[in-house]
Amino acid sequence: MRKIIIDTDTGSDDAVAILMALREPTVEVVAVTTVCGNVNMEQATINAFRSIEAADTYVPPVYKGAYRPLMRDAVTAENVHGQDGMGDLGLPIPDMQAEKEHAVEALIRIVKENPGEIEIVAIGPVTNLALAMMKDPEAMKLVKHIYSMGSGGYGMGNVTSVAEFNVFVDAEAYKVMVDFPVPKTIIGYDICSLPGAFIEENEIDEMKNEGPVSQFAIDCNSTLIDYCKRVWGSRKLDLPDPYAMAAALWPETVLEEHECHCFVCTADDPAYGQVVVDYRKFDAVNKDKLEKRRPNANVIKLMDTALFKKKLRECLKTE
Ligand code: BDR
Ligand code: CA
Repeated sequence: MRKIIIDTDTGSDDAVAILMALREPTVEVVAVTTVCGNVNMEQATINAFRSIEAADTYVPPVYKGAYRPLMRDAVTAENVHGQDGMGDLGLPIPDMQAEKEHAVEALIRIVKENPGEIEIVAIGPVTNLALAMMKDPEAMKLVKHIYSMGSGGYGMGNVTSVAEFNVFVDAEAYKVMVDFPVPKTIIGYDICSLPGAFIEENEIDEMKNEGPVSQFAIDCNSTLIDYCKRVWGSRKLDLPDPYAMAAALWPETVLEEHECHCFVCTADDPAYGQVVVDYRKFDAVNKDKLEKRRPNANVIKLMDTALFKKKLRECLKTE
């Protein structure tokens, strides 16, 4: 059975990704680690528990992680996901407790206990991962694979024209993660706005009638649906973290990916948080510099959005 750790700043689309993983029978979620991002880390932890409870399968251990990015003040996204990150529905706070061990320690320990077996799906800023990589690089080299929702991929950002939220919050951490020598797949923000990628209004309404898990997935995204309406002009839902989770859980949804050299911009200028994705095979100008541009990540270019939606709905639907 595949062993997954979900590292999350649990906002409303993270919640859907958590539901997917906990309801997918071919993987075991061995830990959930939380980090500041969409909301502060304590709120993200509450939201992770809400998602775990809503999944109605099993309860993985939850470890609290970083309260703030490596170098900068926290940036949050209550305007996108609600003050509580989950659509401000007044959801109850589950009677569940986080483990005492810190997320960074837990990551290192679990990876050491399962050498070459742990796959990490990172759906928030990667502060916890960078800290673990800096604290115990030898242990973290034993990670099997990292799937990261981060960057604009081959497109634009969603915070600035070039920076996507998870990287913008902690670009220094993203640089550590991208340059770390383990296999990784990046799912950029461009994927969730591919043609057919949005959950459209009729699909939102249909999913609300597909049982309590699907209904929870839609309801907790109500603030995000409102936000999408303001940005895109119609009532629909974009799901960056679920696309990243799908790439991990359902590789058949991935249609095209490239080995790329990814360069993370950390200078304090308008490019802060940009990930320059270079997938050219040849550098026509600086042939001697090709070695410096060796691939450090696979970046997904195309996913089967219809298959994604089909599998998502099947996974969440209950009788
Ligand atoms: C990312 O930022 C957050 O709003 C989402 O949860 C996702 O992880 C998209 O840019
Ligand atoms: Ca997220």
